[in-house]
Amino acid sequence: IFSTVSQAPADPILGLTEAFKADPRQDKVNLGVGIYKDEAGQTPVLTSVKKAEAKLIEIEKSKSYLGIEGVQAYNRAVQTLLFGQDSDITTHDRARTAQAPGGTGSLRMAAEFLVNNTQSSTIWLSNPTWANHQNIFSSAGLSIESYDYYVPETQNIDFEAMLTSLANASAGDIVLLHGCCHNPTGIDLTQAQWQVIGQLCLDKQLLPLFDFAYQGFGAGIEEDAQGLRTVASLVPELIIANSFSKNFGLYNERIGAVTIVAESSESASRAFSQLKKTIRSSYSNPPAHGGLIVATILEDAALRSEWEQELTTMRNRIAQMRALFVQMLKDEGVQRDFGFIANQNGMFSFSGLDKAQVTQLREEFGIYIVGSGRISVAGLTKDNLPKVCKAIAHVL
Ligand code: LMR
Repeated sequence: IFSTVSQAPADPILGLTEAFKADPRQDKVNLGVGIYKDEAGQTPVLTSVKKAEAKLIEIEKSKSYLGIEGVQAYNRAVQTLLFGQDSDITTHDRARTAQAPGGTGSLRMAAEFLVNNTQSSTIWLSNPTWANHQNIFSSAGLSIESYDYYVPETQNIDFEAMLTSLANASAGDIVLLHGCCHNPTGIDLTQAQWQVIGQLCLDKQLLPLFDFAYQGFGAGIEEDAQGLRTVASLVPELIIANSFSKNFGLYNERIGAVTIVAESSESASRAFSQLKKTIRSSYSNPPAHGGLIVATILEDAALRSEWEQELTTMRNRIAQMRALFVQMLKDEGVQRDFGFIANQNGMFSFSGLDKAQVTQLREEFGIYIVGSGRISVAGLTKDNLPKVCKAIAHVL
């Protein structure tokens, strides 16, 4: 039976990590996958997380199953992070949240819920977008369309082109929006543009599906939610898939959530009953640990404040690396203007390096970046920057 199975291509991001691990060179640098590194090049467990875990070990009495929707305190905390305190959505009980395994699991559950229960069958993705989006949505049975977003020549968004693309969307189509820190470009919509997109979704009856994986990595926890909140204030229905891999450093705990916002509490409950059915047939109910950690931190004032400080440290270090990166490239005599790197948000920088240059960086220097030219700035350190900048100067 298996003899007819063909070889799958390596994953563009995680496949790179496999190749990196197999590379024997001592001075190799992994700037592929989006994982935060501290100054020492480590990805340590956050102190707030360690403290929450210690607390959990003390009080945990059972490993019995969670409900299909996961830890309820976690789900409430997720809604507050997404919509803010006392939002209109929560006051009117229009949102339902299910804990899910990471951003990917959350997106997949959202997609399957839509395919199985609604007329929505097409999803619009930005060009470019995160390499896994296409896989997730096509595996769930959605047709993929793409909307114009980033223009390499200007290193910026062409918002008019985005609107022109989306003018071709039909009522019921889904529009995937990156809540903040657009992956891979690092360029986000302005508040005025979010307003226009929200209005467009309302007018054309499009369903916004937010991929919200970097809250707190752009400008701050509240600031990064403004685009989502603007759109949510305009449209009757939307879905949010969020992840705590990056902002809590809980990568391997696979902790995220799907939140459905409906027109009314009653409609939200019906939709949620179907989402739960989707989850039950997929992984039954979520693993508990990640959700309990996040809920413990967000419900405890001291832990929450410690987490916020740790998040601020991560955000500031990335900003510092961006500035240093631009400066060092200049110092290496690179003629091309890389100043745009300093204006991008989040973990990634869309460098504009082409496929041949990316390959040369890997083969000749052991520097791993994604084929699209995306560099994980969060993986740069003062130690590896000189090597990276010299190599980039060389391949250019
Ligand atoms: C990334 O884009 O590098 C991260 O979101 C990790 C992943 O799963 O691809």
